[in-house]
Amino acid sequence: MSVTAPSEPMLLAPKDAAKPAIGAATSRVDARLKVTGGARYGSDIDGGRQPAHGYLRTSAIARGRITRIDETAARRVPGVLEILTFRNVGDRIKPGKTFSGQGYMGSSIAPLASDRIQHAGQIVALVVADSFEAARDAAQRLDVSYAEERPSATFDSPGLKEGLTNPKPKSKEGEDSEDENPKVGDAAGAFAAAPVRIDQHYETPTQHHNPIELFTTTCAWNGDELTVWESSQNMYGFKNGLAEQLGIPADKVRTVSPFVGGAFGSRGSLTQRTAIVALAAKRVGRPVRLEATRSQGFTIATYRAETRHRVRLAAGHDGKLQALIHEGWEISSRPDDYKVAGTDASTRLYACPNVDSNVTIVHTDRNTPGFMRSPPETPYLFALESAMDELAVALKMDPVELRRVNDTQVEPIKGLPYTSRALMPCFDAAAAAFGWAKRTPEPGSMRDGDWLIGWGCASSMYPTQMGAASARVTLSPQGRIVVQTATHEIGQGVMTVIALTAADQLGVPLDQVTVEVGDSRLPPSPVAGGSNSTASVCNVVAKACADIRERIVRAAVAPSAPFAGVAPASLVLADGKLTAPDGRTEPLAQAMARAAGGAIEAYAENIPHGVKPDALQGLYKGQGKLAGGAKMKDRIQFAFGAQFAEVRVHRLTREVRASRVVGAYAAGRIMNPKTAKSQLMGGQVWGISAALHEATEIDRRSARYYNDDLAEYLIPVNADITRVETIFLPEQDEKVNDLGIKGLGELGNVGLNAAVANAVWHATGVRVRELPVRIEKLLVA
Ligand code: MOS
Repeated sequence: MSVTAPSEPMLLAPKDAAKPAIGAATSRVDARLKVTGGARYGSDIDGGRQPAHGYLRTSAIARGRITRIDETAARRVPGVLEILTFRNVGDRIKPGKTFSGQGYMGSSIAPLASDRIQHAGQIVALVVADSFEAARDAAQRLDVSYAEERPSATFDSPGLKEGLTNPKPKSKEGEDSEDENPKVGDAAGAFAAAPVRIDQHYETPTQHHNPIELFTTTCAWNGDELTVWESSQNMYGFKNGLAEQLGIPADKVRTVSPFVGGAFGSRGSLTQRTAIVALAAKRVGRPVRLEATRSQGFTIATYRAETRHRVRLAAGHDGKLQALIHEGWEISSRPDDYKVAGTDASTRLYACPNVDSNVTIVHTDRNTPGFMRSPPETPYLFALESAMDELAVALKMDPVELRRVNDTQVEPIKGLPYTSRALMPCFDAAAAAFGWAKRTPEPGSMRDGDWLIGWGCASSMYPTQMGAASARVTLSPQGRIVVQTATHEIGQGVMTVIALTAADQLGVPLDQVTVEVGDSRLPPSPVAGGSNSTASVCNVVAKACADIRERIVRAAVAPSAPFAGVAPASLVLADGKLTAPDGRTEPLAQAMARAAGGAIEAYAENIPHGVKPDALQGLYKGQGKLAGGAKMKDRIQFAFGAQFAEVRVHRLTREVRASRVVGAYAAGRIMNPKTAKSQLMGGQVWGISAALHEATEIDRRSARYYNDDLAEYLIPVNADITRVETIFLPEQDEKVNDLGIKGLGELGNVGLNAAVANAVWHATGVRVRELPVRIEKLLVA
């Protein structure tokens, strides 16, 4: 940590001064680089010198031990340099702690530490050779024998170990509410006594992110200094975690990740492959590049595990909820306790006096799951919002009206106020755009020839989270700005909102701003997860800009300076000059010469509301904790949306088409409507995908994935996506942060899976409670 943040109060530019940049639909500042092939992704970089190539050999069994590895044939392949197995790695790499244990890893399973196999597709060897082809050939010639034990694949498999999650005691009054099962009142009693009740089970399947950029890692040593090129959502985490695993100081590790070819959570935690590649590079004395195959990506990285739910809802005849009980079961690996525990959100969406919840982890012989776009809300709101639709049917009430009578500005568990909540305005806007008023409630009542039309809806919510962040901003006398922060361009357009912020705050044109991200040599920013980046990073960049402006203005209003006596806040810094209320101006270069004698550099740190004061140390260690959502003691902050879907189901074949989706979202200040719309629309497409297409199929005997490639892992193609409408609702939230930003990267897909399934019920009368909705599930009826 070099410079500290200035301790004097910041002079933010007047709130309503002309701000042409923020909020205007703006093309990405990196658009040209991306479409011309100039953008360098982690996989594009070869470590400067000709790297050796690595190829992984992964386990054919899910549980047991390696009894023998015969390297003879592999070593005979010309060009083979090194073969790393448990026999020559062992404790040279420390397993590292997982996120939940205050570490950096997605999984504690240390593949080359011993002969033990804990999941199918576990790394068994890394073969390094002069060419990719030689490494692949040799990896396939390794003769590996196993002593196999019977694995537990998923729910209902033999040999399961069930562990209670959220095992920590209920937090004390006034503490963070993490790790509790939200509950209030007497839910069981109220449920038993209520006149209208729903008691149903729901399931969501295993899913894999499959970013188009494969899981690639390149490592190069220069003496005792290690450089790692790997696409990442958490560069400071990777740097510190890797140092810990290799037993070297963190300042000897540099991680580089300029552009990321898709992440969605899969690159948020450090995987075990990176340290193995680093060790290989050390052993062969040259850079080593590993590009894992698509199918290996299913098991060497994380994924969304399958979930089960039991939801009990009880209401009066007026539709008002009297009891809500949400139980969830989640799959994890044998040793790790990764969980998403979406009851944190699902118990707080509606007003309800009696709430109970519980989450149970089921430990299986699988790779450890991890973050995948809206990890908790996607499965848990599928269950809740399906149950709400069933309740609306039981009540003979319109599903939108059911949400309206249960709307609230106060979360029901602790009575904390939402900083802002526009759920019903979203429903009203989306319903109007969709034409919901024309819906006839009877299932099968809307038809177009042989096609049954179904209309459904559901709520979306996503926590507004932020972490401590830092940034350096430099302004030159010519009005050029350089912004530096180690945030992550994962496709969301973060460089563009950073540039917009700096241009806006310092009054320069957008094309005068250079943004540098993606390198652990830059000041740290939080993990690009939990939809926090725009809020965390733009606010700290604004703070650094305010510091620069303040220094210029202070010098300009000093005694004997040209603006002596002018109120500092009334001076406008824009268009390369300072302007006073009386119209007098001074060129920026002149003002800066007085203030600093040249370029001005400002380093800023920001600790958002709810984040602990020592968060900066954690941030520099790559452990910046996010605050927000339902985890604050004085308030609750979420972004909301309403999801509407139209499906067409063929009367005879039961072919299902999502012919139209409409979503309306309120997420505070929209920094860049163009990229924000892309984010939300991408989420909507993914919502359709989650409802109708995606599932990783698991062989229950071998605990292996069947469809571990893009040919058989179904995702929608253009023909599956007909009409997607994305509506923003203006929302001003002065509490969440200075700029009023709520994250929205993970808001667009939440709830749409339920909206589609609800539409399928409306079309057919068949309630599909296990995603994805597929033809065979509609034929049984
Ligand atoms: Mo996102 S799943 O929070 O990286």
